[in-house]
Amino acid sequence: DWTMAAFREQAIEEIRQKVGRNKVICGLSGGVDSAVAAVLLHEAIGDQLTCIFVDHGLMRQGEAEEVVGLFRGHYNIPLVHVEAADLFLGALEGESDPEKKRKTIGRLFVETFEAEAAKLGGAEFLAQGTLYPDVIESVSFTGGPSVTIKSHHNVGGLPERMNMKLVEPLRELFKDEVRALGRELGLPESFVGRHPFPGPGLAIRCPGAVTREKLDILRQADAIYLDEIRKAGLYDAIWQAFAVLLPVQTVGVMGDGRTYEYVCALRAVTSVDGMTADFYPYDMEFLGAAATRIINEVRGINRVVYDVTSKPPGTIEWE
Ligand code: XMP
Repeated sequence: DWTMAAFREQAIEEIRQKVGRNKVICGLSGGVDSAVAAVLLHEAIGDQLTCIFVDHGLMRQGEAEEVVGLFRGHYNIPLVHVEAADLFLGALEGESDPEKKRKTIGRLFVETFEAEAAKLGGAEFLAQGTLYPDVIESVSFTGGPSVTIKSHHNVGGLPERMNMKLVEPLRELFKDEVRALGRELGLPESFVGRHPFPGPGLAIRCPGAVTREKLDILRQADAIYLDEIRKAGLYDAIWQAFAVLLPVQTVGVMGDGRTYEYVCALRAVTSVDGMTADFYPYDMEFLGAAATRIINEVRGINRVVYDVTSKPPGTIEWE
């Protein structure tokens, strides 16, 4: 792709100018944005870059292994894998306000990055895979009076005081452009085509207070749902699909017993840039089959519903 080849050259030049001989750490989230940012930075500044993968205990099933595997296996980029589930889940305990959850996670990300930077003897810069829509949505929805819809952790969710400067080489790009850049940089197609995954992870797919038990239930339901989507050949037709665990229990019947368990909501949308989205029009057979599998295989869920809200008026994530 001619445009992306040119962008790549220019971005590399700008990164070198900005960073000089200083050290940079780059947070990897499991999503395509931070992965592309990391590979681009590595090309620009080589071993001045260290990647940090913070496992905050809010990842999906198998996610930590996939990300660490890609970076340690395919690339020679130094990667620090920080196990921080106790830290994040401890701080989130009992917190049910969506913005407070986001702010807490944003603050802990930065504290973790700062602590890791200190271990490396200090780093001047923190690199992030922030995209243009993240910038817009964290500031204002309309460009008019500033109304924060939600503080994306990598923009508005950052604390005001931070002792590293930001490097955000993708700040002017939309998702489809980041994917094109990822291909240009030779990232495997399986990674480039991944659905977006938000930095705050499963915390914002567990409305209300997050617990390990709920996360565990959600992870299982989500994995089954995505498995069904892949088997049906729908993964690439969907922008993003995931399960949400509602903080509501309802009555059901299984075998000859009464159940009283959680409701799982399924979400799937099509979109071009994440700024607007339409719910995905599954056929009922697919939904029925996915629901049956989730209820049969996941202890703790006895009811499944499908979210038919587009954006606007909904947002893609539930928090
Ligand atoms: P919403 O829910 O605002 O999401 O309609 C739009 C897109 O952004 C993703 N998202 C995030 N990504 N950090 C991220 O890196 C965040 O804090 C965050 N919040 C939402 C969301 O998954 C969707 O693709």
